[in-house]
Amino acid sequence: MGAITKGLVLFLALFFVSDQYQINASKFKFTNFVCDSVNPSWIEVHQCRLKAIRRDKTILNFNGSLLQTARKGRLHGEMFKKASGWKPWLYNVTVDACRFVRKPYVPVAILVFNMFKDNSNFNHPCPYSGPVYVMGVHVFPETIPVPLPSGEYLILIKWYVASYRNLSSELIISTGIYFSFDE
Ligand SMILES: *[C@@H]1O[C@H](CO)[C@@H](O)[C@H](O)[C@H]1NC(C)=O
Ligand SMILES: *[C@@H]1O[C@H](CO)[C@@H](O)[C@H](O)[C@H]1NC(C)=O
Ligand SMILES: *[C@@H]1O[C@H](CO)[C@@H](O)[C@H](O)[C@H]1NC(C)=O
Repeated sequence: MGAITKGLVLFLALFFVSDQYQINASKFKFTNFVCDSVNPSWIEVHQCRLKAIRRDKTILNFNGSLLQTARKGRLHGEMFKKASGWKPWLYNVTVDACRFVRKPYVPVAILVFNMFKDNSNFNHPCPYSGPVYVMGVHVFPETIPVPLPSGEYLILIKWYVASYRNLSSELIISTGIYFSFDE
C-alpha cells in the first residue's frame, strides 16, 4: 500500500473507533449535580458542577475545603429511579469513610469509588482537613457492571463527620448526582 492509502486506512480506522466510542458514551449522561445542606462551620464549597466538554461528554467536578479536621466519617448513599417522583432503587448503604479509605469494603461503594478515585484526593487514611476534591469524573457505561434499565437516576450521598472518634458525626453536606441511562 502507498503511504496515502495507509494514511487513509488509519484515518478511517480511527474515525470508526472514535465514532463507536461516542455511541457508547452517549448512553450515560450526567444531568445535574447539586450540593446542599452545606454546614458552613465544616466545609466551604468552591465548585459543585457539571461541565460539558463535548456534545456527548459531561464531567463532574467537586472542589471543597474542610475547615476542621475530620477523624471520623460516614457516608450514607441512596439510589433513586424516576417513576412519577423519585423512588428508592436497589441501593441504600452506609459506609464508614475512614475504614473505607484504609481498605475499601461494600461492593457498590467500591464500584462508585473506582469511577472517581483517580481524579480525587481521597487517597490517604484519616484524618482529613483542607482540600477535598473530585475533578473530571466521567463514566464509561460499559464499566457499569449491574444491568441498568433505561431511565433517570439520582444518587444521593450524605456526608457525616466528627473531629474526634468519641463524638457523634454530623451532616456536613448532601450531594445529589443525577444521570440518565439508555440501554
Ligand atoms: C479548588 O479551589 C481552590 C480555591 O478556589 C483552588 O485554590 C484549588 O486549586 C482548587 N482545586 C482544584 C483541584 O481544582
Ligand atoms: C435507607 O437507609 C436509611 C438509613 O439506614 C433509612 O433511614 C431509610 O429509611 C432507608 N430508606 C429506605 C427506602 O429503606
Ligand atoms: C474526645 O477525645 C478528645 C481527644 O482525645 C478529647 O480531647 C475530648 O475531651 C474527648 N471528648 C469527650 C466528650 O470525651
